[in-house]
Amino acid sequence: MNLEEKIKAIRSSLEEDCSKVSSSNQLQELKVKYLGKKGFVIELTKNMQNLSIDEKKMVGKYANEIKSEVIKKLEEMEQSLKEKELNEKLKKDVIDPTLPATKIKVGSKHPLTKVREEVENLFVSMGYDVVSGPEVEEDHYNFELLNLPKEHPARDAQDSFYITEELLLRSQTSPVQARTMLKNEKKEPIKIICPGKVYRRDEDDATHSHQFSQIEGLVVGENVSLADLKGTLTIFAKKLFGEARTIRFRPSYFPFTEPSYEVDISCFKCGGSGCNICKQTGWIEILGSGMVHPNVLNACGYDAKKYTGFAFGIGIERVAMLKYGISDIRNLYTNDVRFLDTYNRVEGDQ
Ligand code: DAH
Repeated sequence: MNLEEKIKAIRSSLEEDCSKVSSSNQLQELKVKYLGKKGFVIELTKNMQNLSIDEKKMVGKYANEIKSEVIKKLEEMEQSLKEKELNEKLKKDVIDPTLPATKIKVGSKHPLTKVREEVENLFVSMGYDVVSGPEVEEDHYNFELLNLPKEHPARDAQDSFYITEELLLRSQTSPVQARTMLKNEKKEPIKIICPGKVYRRDEDDATHSHQFSQIEGLVVGENVSLADLKGTLTIFAKKLFGEARTIRFRPSYFPFTEPSYEVDISCFKCGGSGCNICKQTGWIEILGSGMVHPNVLNACGYDAKKYTGFAFGIGIERVAMLKYGISDIRNLYTNDVRFLDTYNRVEGDQ
């Protein structure tokens, strides 16, 4: 075979080989077959020692030409194979945008947290400070300073968990009133709320829990009056239960306030005509309050002749249960996600 014939043969064999290639691996084999050390192109330039210089030049020229041709052809093949392989892959990996997405579970605030924050925000907006106190409390603060000496019969109403004779799990957030007044060395006016957990030796049932949470409120200053208390609690009732709410004071008894009141709000469900929520009375009992007893002011270093104050105690669970229609207090503690989810759906938020 002369040189031209050899080149022709390479061309036609390349055409034929290329037409059979269907994968990158096969293409790689072709590269070796044509351009490798023992490949067809190199073969052309073998045994050139007997040729004249002109002949060598000519073989070299032809060999280079066919080499470029082969390289170009193989590159084209490579490109079209890549496209083909990509298209096949895309066809296989079809994405169906109509499939339902995987739901991402987002955490949410607990109903008790929501109520607490709502009350905190309201009072902070009215200039109150939010303070806290210890849950393991001294009898002195929990009772004595609040006008409840040892043997006082009203202590029975808050059957407490005692740790020692003088230490107990606080049965109310009211001791924070005493702590705040005592701490205030200059005896300046006070406006605080104190949210926190309290503990009582109650049998747990649908409406009682041995641990629950309260928000205590205390305002002390000169000329603080019952009208201020009523105005403040009216704002509270409207904010939490709707603008149409009114409140009423029912005389009651707490050792640390005089006079003392249970505060009722007009029923948010029936508006006052009577329903199952308000037990047909039109009113719902919501919190305890009163004017700070002079004994408490004096015991905490505030001269009762100069200062007056009001205080209140809100049960957070009670507010949450009323607001969100929760009938069993235990649902608030077992934290069953199904319960909390229902609640969130009702609320319509995350
Ligand atoms: N500490 C009371 C309780 O746990 C609630 C309370 C009533 C707090 C009247 C007050 C108040 O500050 O003035 O039952």
